[in-house]
Formats: sequence, structure tokens, C-alpha cells
Amino acid sequence: MTKKVISKSYAKIILFGEHSVVYGQPAIALPLYSVDVHAEISLEPSGQTLSSRYYEGPIADMSNNLLGVKTLIDHILNELGKSSANFKMTITSQIPSERGMGSSAATAIAITRALYQYFDVPLNREKLLKEALIEEKITHGNPSGIDTATASSHFPIWFIKHKENAQITFNLADYNLVIADSGIKGKTADAVSLIARNMVDDSDNTKPLIDDLGRIATEAKRAIITGDGSKIGDLMYQSQQRLHDLGVSTPTLDKLVSTSKKAGALGAKLTGSGLGGCMIALTDSTTTAQRLATELRKAGATQTWIQSFKNYGFNGEKQNDNVVQ
Ligand code: PMV
Repeated sequence: MTKKVISKSYAKIILFGEHSVVYGQPAIALPLYSVDVHAEISLEPSGQTLSSRYYEGPIADMSNNLLGVKTLIDHILNELGKSSANFKMTITSQIPSERGMGSSAATAIAITRALYQYFDVPLNREKLLKEALIEEKITHGNPSGIDTATASSHFPIWFIKHKENAQITFNLADYNLVIADSGIKGKTADAVSLIARNMVDDSDNTKPLIDDLGRIATEAKRAIITGDGSKIGDLMYQSQQRLHDLGVSTPTLDKLVSTSKKAGALGAKLTGSGLGGCMIALTDSTTTAQRLATELRKAGATQTWIQSFKNYGFNGEKQNDNVVQ
């Protein structure tokens, strides 16, 4: 048995299709290579302990707010017949939690990869995603699976719940994405249930918005393939309007979007569940991206990231879920 393993996963950004993806519409999401989670497992003389930013101590004593992670670890150990193995797990995350950047999904992916690798058990992509959803169902209620699919991907993906999880041809090398944290915790479970309620109680207004978000994602896919940044930007603003009409934007997110527009962004929208969390803006130069990040912080963003799309093109590499990188 290996004495020490380290596995990795990424923060995710949903470019198009949050919420509508829950109802079978397509979505486009990408991993953020510069914002990641590491899970390390090493042999210990006795016990099973976890060290992370939220908890330090025996896995058996983990508190209820980490129930998803605890259940996932227990489930995998049980499945692999290693419930009494001795080890220490250390989770190091750069992903802010509850900001729509897929912190819990990335943690679940890194843990699953690390445990399988530590016990030398092969893990394919399908199994990886199935395991990680055990945590997401507890933490988020009714996940579409897009968060785990993206956190475990090395490439941008085109995702349709239960149907498609495919690499997308990404021809946007000259563009940058600015990500800004509104400073307010996102509320995934609340936002998802708000829309679920409205789909029943106010379906005449809600369903067309969900369908339109699907139409926008489909158009965006074509624009991403052809590298049409202005079109993508326009679709981002359209998407923000629909998400606002669905009731999941906030005054701060709206303000950050209008700040982006004034500062020359091609497009801007909230990302993830909304009701707080992050927004994203597309720019066609690094200078504009840097200026925009400054403007967004002046307008109240608590943190900003700039992600260049230079390394997002398809490079023919096959995804391998048991590789440590
Ligand atoms: O976890 P968040 O806040 O990034 O939101 C996930 C995206 C949703 O579409 C709102 C929910 C889902 O499971 O797809």
C-alpha cells in the first residue's frame, strides 16, 4: 500500500446554464486551473483523522455541517473494505466556500481520488462522479452533477444532466474571465428550492425563463466554438437578466454586473446558484481585465480573480481520473 498520496481538483465556474441545468437544459462550465483543492492521505500509527480549514480531529467526531464529507469518507472506506485503516487526511483548499465556485464538489472529488489512490483501487470517471455525488446530495439537496463534473475535469465541459458530459472546443485564447466575489455567501439549497417552488406555483413565468437559459447556453456553445467573444458577452448579459427575473440575483451582484458593463466588459453575469456568491465578466484584453478587477473591488467585490483562456483549448489529452497532478 502507498504510504502517502496527494490528489487534486479544481474550482468551477458555470459560464452558462446554472439552475436551468437542474431541469435538463444544457450548461457550459469550466475548471479554474489556478484555484484548486488538494487532498493528502498519509499513514498514521492509529485512528482516522482529518485536518482542514473547518475541522481538525477524528473523522468519527466530525460535526453536522461536514456531514456530507464524513458520509462520503465512511461510504468509500466501507465499500473498499478499509473501515478500520489508519490514516490522516489533510485537505488544503484555495476555493472560498459558498461562493458558487464549487468548493464542496471539488473537495468531494479530491477526497474520492485520494482514497482510491491510497488503497490502490482503480477509479474511472463514472465511478468518481457517482461517489462524489454522495457528498453533494447531502450538502446541496438536488445537485444536477455539473459541479462534480467540472471540478474533476481538466477541460471546459458541455453538460446535460444524466445525458452529456463532454469536452467543449474552446476557441477563446485571447479572452479573459474576471471573477468577483460579492462577499455574501451564496445559498445553493435556498436558490434551488426557490426555483423549484416557482416551477410549480408560477410555472407560466418561470418555465419560459428556464427554457430561454437553455437556448442561451446552446447559442453560447456555437459562439465558443467559433471564438465569437462579442456574441458570448451578449449572451452573458441576457443570461443575467433571466437569472435576475428568476429571483436569484442580488442588488450587489446586479451592481457588479453594471459596473462591468460600464468598465468595458463584453458580458457579465452571476455564476453558480446566486443569492450571493460570485459574478463573472468577459474581457478581450488583459489590461481591461485588470482595470475591471480594480473597478469591481471599488464597487464592493471582496476578492477578484483573473483567468486567462490561453490554456483552455482542446489539446487532445484524454482525461484520466486516477492521475495525481
Ligand atoms: O453550487 P453552486 O452554487 O455553484 O450552484 C450549482 C449550480 C446550480 O445549477 C444552481 C445547481 C445544480 O446542482 O446544478
